[in-house]
Amino acid sequence: MHFLTLDELTVEDIYKVLHQAEALQNHQPLPKPDLYAANLFFENSTRTKCSFEMAQRKLGMNVLSFDAGTASISKGESLYDTVKTLEAIGVDVVVIRHSEERYFDALKDKVSLSIINGGDGMGHHPSQCMLDLLTIYQEFGSFKGLTVTIAGDIRHSRVARSNTYALQRLGAEVNFSGPPAWRDPEMTDIPFVDMDQAVKESDVVMLLRVQHERHAFGENFTKQEYHQQYGLTVDRERKMKKNSIIMHPAPVNRGVEIADELVECDRSRIFKQMKNGVVTRMAMLQYVLAKREETKHELIN
Ligand code: CP
Repeated sequence: MHFLTLDELTVEDIYKVLHQAEALQNHQPLPKPDLYAANLFFENSTRTKCSFEMAQRKLGMNVLSFDAGTASISKGESLYDTVKTLEAIGVDVVVIRHSEERYFDALKDKVSLSIINGGDGMGHHPSQCMLDLLTIYQEFGSFKGLTVTIAGDIRHSRVARSNTYALQRLGAEVNFSGPPAWRDPEMTDIPFVDMDQAVKESDVVMLLRVQHERHAFGENFTKQEYHQQYGLTVDRERKMKKNSIIMHPAPVNRGVEIADELVECDRSRIFKQMKNGVVTRMAMLQYVLAKREETKHELIN
């Protein structure tokens, strides 16, 4: 059993994980000292890597250190052989972040340990999606009837891809906003609105980081021009709906996607999202581990 994209979960399963994450905010689970985890991050990360490790330790799991820079991958070992090696020495769960989209397709049917996708290139980011869903659910109590605008670098964003369809399945209306050049040709069914309209109509303004590592910054604008045309400026924040919130998966390019002083303003849930990341990842780990146990029992019986 793996956790690779949100598409594999039913709506019922999504709610099951969200409710478990909420329960974990007030409840310390029994430790799992016989379980081993390793976090294989081949792309940089602060939040996802550290909060998965925090989640694993809070669950009482053993966490192996794995440094992509010094691992035998640098001697030419494949990702498949790396994962099979960890499986052979007794690891139960690996969290993998990799630049290749759907890297997990070559692994998922060939390994008995569980894989949680920590982000695959521009593909998917299921744990970010789940913590974003938890943040919205805690704020509004439901997804039905909400308008969520995802704004910015849509084309290069695994967060946009994961969140858009999950939010729609849960009943929210999703709009995109941002530079026309960064629209995603595979998601043309999502309405595009300009930022001035988005702030007036949205319950959630979800800003995306400009992905400098995946493409050169816009040829047609400077960072300041981007901020004025497509970003959340102080002036635009004043026009947001009452009770609407600001989200951003972070890391934040302060002064580009969002004005520096808005990152920690009253409407901002950016640090709440990070806090929610720990219980969400604990719930995801528990979900995967419970499914593994079910499969084991099915096989034994
Ligand atoms: N939001 C997110 O994925 O952050 P990191 O890249 O720091 O993990």
